[in-house]
Amino acid sequence: MIYPIVKYGDPVLETPAETITEFNNDLRKLADDMFESMYAAHGVGLAAPQIGIGKRIVVIDITFKEDPEAKMVLVNPEIIKIEGRQRSSEGCLSLPDFREEVTRPNVVTVRAQDLGGKWFESTGEGLLARAFLHETDHLNGKLFITHVSALKRDMIRRKVRKLQRAGQWA
Ligand code: NI
Repeated sequence: MIYPIVKYGDPVLETPAETITEFNNDLRKLADDMFESMYAAHGVGLAAPQIGIGKRIVVIDITFKEDPEAKMVLVNPEIIKIEGRQRSSEGCLSLPDFREEVTRPNVVTVRAQDLGGKWFESTGEGLLARAFLHETDHLNGKLFITHVSALKRDMIRRKVRKLQRAGQWA
């Protein structure tokens, strides 16, 4: 099932998500639906709050269907190690058409559970490191615009409000 993507302004995006404790078929179905919704929206990462579900699960595929082995599901992820620095343009399905340069660590290790509840660690570099950080931020109620200057953030907020008033942001 394809869910509509929740946009910036909805409180679910700025509320810390709940820890997942049940590893059952419903969770598997949620992960499948999240991949489907992410691909439909042309994204490479999606966190459950972005489909209005306040639970700590994210899906990532930085290859966008090229490599089936690149598909990742992270349940209850925690960033446990960061190294280096990268700066590049970042966007978010919940803030369509806004992109900003964001500085992030370049090598990131995440610890998470799989759909069976088993803990694992994964280290990513570059775009994958960025995806780990961006999606884990979502579960903590943080959007990428919290990493840009206050000036740019205010500019984006103003533009979003304008789009909301014009009925072009839902
Ligand atoms: Ni995002």
